[in-house]
Amino acid sequence: MDKQHRKAIIAGNWKMNKTPKEAAALIDQLIPAVKDAGCEVVICVPFVDLAVALEKTKGTNIRVGAENVHFEAAGAFTGEVSAPMLAEMGVEYVVVGHSERRQYFAETDETVNKRARAAVAAGLKPIICVGESLAQREQGVTEELVRLQVKIALGGMTADDLKNVVIAYEPIWAIGTGRTATAEQAQEVCAAIRKVVGELYGADAALALTVQYGGSMNAGNAAELVAKPDVDGGLIGGASLKADQFAVIVDAAGKG
Ligand code: 13P
Repeated sequence: MDKQHRKAIIAGNWKMNKTPKEAAALIDQLIPAVKDAGCEVVICVPFVDLAVALEKTKGTNIRVGAENVHFEAAGAFTGEVSAPMLAEMGVEYVVVGHSERRQYFAETDETVNKRARAAVAAGLKPIICVGESLAQREQGVTEELVRLQVKIALGGMTADDLKNVVIAYEPIWAIGTGRTATAEQAQEVCAAIRKVVGELYGADAALALTVQYGGSMNAGNAAELVAKPDVDGGLIGGASLKADQFAVIVDAAGKG
């Protein structure tokens, strides 16, 4: 089975939720709930929660990620946080190019590429998000669009860099809407992502790449999604804020 060649990752994307105190309480619930995970478990948390998340998860199987990163290492970029800053803290992952960043904060494929490269250069693992809007899906351009997003996001990266890159397919119409892509739709696009990575970097790189699905993944639908051959886990929004639900998803991915 191809899936043996790569690790499944369930990553929570907390978005703009949880104060440090609330984060500590949720992590206290998460630690026992996911301790026997058969997949990698990541929580991507707001910048202000990183310190408490790193402290609390020390010695556990939970890895910590940020939700964004600037592409410059330092300088006059008020309000931004750089990759070396995150790396020095002990942060391991970072979400890059989430559709909410693209939609509300003018993120483009080019800045996604710059951020992803800066992350890799600092030793972080970017989770690069791609995905189409409802109008784009209805126009039938999903695969072309996602291929282009992936190509631009990975521009300038080597096959070696790719070992630390995760790609998340997140159809915008499925995010926070309760409307999940069908397992077939998720499989189709995750396979297309693996295909374009194969074209760019060769079969081995494609085989080893973790490709997640994200968009209203929850305790009820996770098992079917992660059972698909090209879906290597998920990026979870709402359901990652409930320890019991997140644990069910983690469990499903361990078996997927
Ligand atoms: P929901 O799981 O809340 O739909 O969010 C998905 C997402 O955007 C993860 O990055």
